Amino acid sequence: MSQKLTIRDLDLRGKRVLIRVDYNVPLNTKFAVTDDRRIRATLPTLRYGRDKGARMVLMSHLGRPDGKIVEELRMAPVARRLGELLGHSVQYTRDCIGEDVLRHSKELRAGDMLLLENVRFHAEEEKNDPDFAQRLSQLGDVYVNDAFGTAHRAHASTTGVAKFLPAAMGFLMEREVEALSKILKNPERPFAMIIGGAKVSDKVGIFENLIASLDMLLIGGAMAYTFLKVQGLSVGKSKVEEEKLDLAKELLSKMEKRNLLLKLPIDHVTASVSLKPSPPTERFVRKKEIPENEFGYDIGPETVKGFEEALSKAKTVLWNGPLGVFENVLFEKGTREIAEFLAKQKGMTTILGGGDTAAAIAQFKLTDRMTHVSTGGGASLEFLEGKVLPGIAALTDKK
Ligand code: 3PG
Repeated sequence: MSQKLTIRDLDLRGKRVLIRVDYNVPLNTKFAVTDDRRIRATLPTLRYGRDKGARMVLMSHLGRPDGKIVEELRMAPVARRLGELLGHSVQYTRDCIGEDVLRHSKELRAGDMLLLENVRFHAEEEKNDPDFAQRLSQLGDVYVNDAFGTAHRAHASTTGVAKFLPAAMGFLMEREVEALSKILKNPERPFAMIIGGAKVSDKVGIFENLIASLDMLLIGGAMAYTFLKVQGLSVGKSKVEEEKLDLAKELLSKMEKRNLLLKLPIDHVTASVSLKPSPPTERFVRKKEIPENEFGYDIGPETVKGFEEALSKAKTVLWNGPLGVFENVLFEKGTREIAEFLAKQKGMTTILGGGDTAAAIAQFKLTDRMTHVSTGGGASLEFLEGKVLPGIAALTDKK
């Protein structure tokens, strides 16, 4: 992909800078932001804009309101949290287009920040409607996209506006692109990938795109049971994608041909009841096979040991997908211990992608100990699958 303008290439002084951020963050029933990582990750761009005397107009979506106003998905709580993080108030408008909003943007002074209402309250946003994009573009003199998490969506606020204004990436977008591109183009070897999460089918694209450059592949999480079943092992009542057994078989044979080091779980943490409606209260550690009436929920201690041994030889580790049900204290250990192990390594590049992986690492308070934890879920997956993300492609090329 051609080189894109970055925020450093723009003259921001006194300009209205329209910034797309991804503040699609969880709120609790009292409308407080419960996880502000995506907001924090944009602060370098916003502080830079403030220092340069920019007048900033921020826009984001929140949830999936499907083109209607949904009171629970207003941006007001996000504006409050952003203000707390910045240490000054952030202005907020109850729509994202219209005469009042336009006037408001023109009245901003150097360093001011205005957060617009949820852009997905208008159906035209997701349709990438050109008139809507143009109306949004009137709120800025230049456009900066710092919403890596939404860069896989071709919407009015992520691609449409870029047709009307000089369009550059913000620091968060730049950091994400740099870290993830390095993995695709030139990972320092040995290169290991840890994949986990529920479904084999979600990770096929990454696997296909990276297999040629991988030296080791470590598989955990629920998807491991599908692979183990292909190998003829008993996985009890664990989650298996029955309709993906052929796919798993095909992937295993590709790995054999590539002669890479493959590690699947050799022991398991299980329980005799399902997670819903009431989660298990006791756990068992089972070697190799899972008894017929049990569910596998985490990798066991021998697997952790084997994973660590393999990973200690790696120079680059890409991790996508938790290794167990980390949300439950009984089944978080496998994911936690591997995370702690990676956090301790010196001279190793550790890149983590995917919403659940990032949430797990945040739960263990290890985010700052990794080289890069992506703020993108679907976006980081598509990037690593080698797809061109429309939100990046739409930005202005460097001369
Ligand atoms: C995300 O949380 O992955 C992004 O904000 C994109 O949200 P979406 O899947 O609703 O487009």
